[in-house]
Amino acid sequence: MNVIKEKLHIGSSKAADAPPAEPSAETLDSLKSKYAEAGQDHVFSFWDTLSSAQKGELFEQLSRFNPAHINDITTRALNPPKTDDTPDTLEPLPESATASILDSKQEDIDAWYASGLDAIAANKVAVVLMAGGQGTRLGSSAPKGCYDIGLPSHKSLFQIQAERIRKVQELAAKRAGGDKAVVPWYVMTSGPTRGPTEDFFAENNYFGLEKSNVVIFEQGVLPCISNEGKIILESKGKVAVAPDGNGGIYQALIVSGVIDDMRKRGIEHIHAYCVDNCLVKVADPVFIGFSASLDVDIATKVVRKRNATESVGLILSKNGKPDVVEYSEIDKETAEAKDPKQPDVLKFRAANIVNHYYSFRFLESIPEWAHKLPHHVARKKIPFADLSSGETVKPEKPNGIKLEQFVFDVFPMLSLDKFACFEVRREDEFSPLKNAPNTGEDDPQTSKRDIMTQGQRWAQETGAIVVADGGIEVSPLISYGGEGLEKLKGTTITAPAVLERE
Ligand code: UTP
Repeated sequence: MNVIKEKLHIGSSKAADAPPAEPSAETLDSLKSKYAEAGQDHVFSFWDTLSSAQKGELFEQLSRFNPAHINDITTRALNPPKTDDTPDTLEPLPESATASILDSKQEDIDAWYASGLDAIAANKVAVVLMAGGQGTRLGSSAPKGCYDIGLPSHKSLFQIQAERIRKVQELAAKRAGGDKAVVPWYVMTSGPTRGPTEDFFAENNYFGLEKSNVVIFEQGVLPCISNEGKIILESKGKVAVAPDGNGGIYQALIVSGVIDDMRKRGIEHIHAYCVDNCLVKVADPVFIGFSASLDVDIATKVVRKRNATESVGLILSKNGKPDVVEYSEIDKETAEAKDPKQPDVLKFRAANIVNHYYSFRFLESIPEWAHKLPHHVARKKIPFADLSSGETVKPEKPNGIKLEQFVFDVFPMLSLDKFACFEVRREDEFSPLKNAPNTGEDDPQTSKRDIMTQGQRWAQETGAIVVADGGIEVSPLISYGGEGLEKLKGTTITAPAVLERE
């Protein structure tokens, strides 16, 4: 593990749960000189005023970082390598690596579903949830997964996702004629979200999942940096830190022992997704089956870009490698280009929804490449300790940067034949919760609406008559993806309604 930590530039960490002790003069000097060499020794400005316990805490926090490495990634994030002037060659991914639920043959979809369920029944599928974000735009003090989007049942996002896992386990066990299938759920949290997430799961009895199959782990943090390139002290004895972005997932999977746990359980296929998508099909058998059938290392779900101006990242081939290109990075002509084979749809239409398949063999190779992932700059208002008075100041304007990695920056490290893309229906699979209530877009109201509308659609498709407005909430314990609702045929349901399993 130490060799791996060195590769990933992670410093030493404290023994679990032991309060950090004040360091000896010698160890302090050695750490101080590391920070001095990197021009970052202002972090010791208030050392002499700290209590013994505070000294222990600060020493422990600073020991986790390699200041020269922090300088290095900051410089690279602020000055990304210049590409030459040759324009990038952008192409949609090759047809052999893509499929769409919109126009695939039903027999193919059925075959992917069946093989995905078989893999689940054989306990070869795991799920990784990215839930380490701070959800600043939503503005709730609790982790986003605890959020109640206002469904009649008042289920939280975590509960909805847990129930989908329970249901897909049941469907797989039933298909295999066995009594049990296990999809372990690895929940990535961060410093700010770990405690409240653990408490929420415990208070809710793991939403009916077995506790041993829910693994809550923590991603890393990085120091916040001032506009002058200095590590920011948040108070006299504490560095301001922030989670290292959803791309921190790779390092965290290794360092937290998740990969070892997956290996012990014999996991071969992994579904990774974001906490804020209330429609996410957790461990979707169709997606697992599709990805496994192509034997790729990464596959990604996409939805169709609504129009040429929608602000979404696009999954495509850039200079012969799979990549994500932001909407701001492509010109109007490229954005508006039509697909020569289907002139009524955009040529570049694969909108990124951060919903991925990984092969286990690929995740095992993380230590070989994680250090190559770039960091991105997010300019933020970061409370800081005034270096003359030691008082914490809340700035009015952005005064520094947070360094973040993006989960999809790994795509260009793959060759095109190890990458695939699966287009799904937006109304069935993607409705993110990003913004504060009543913002009108990607807010709790749109999340609720999309679940209620989907339930109503499922009920009507099976022959139910729905009267009045407001939609139907169908418990994931009744139906994972619209299946198993035959009993509703011919019944009249007055909306808004909730169908819950007894
Ligand atoms: P966003 O980038 O939308 O961030 O995260 P956020 O924290 O949810 O919201 P804002 O930007 O602060 O308003 C997309 C997904 O990536 C996860 C989030 O939890 C969400 O599932 N994420 C983000 C992490 O797991 N770790 C991070 O450091 C950042």
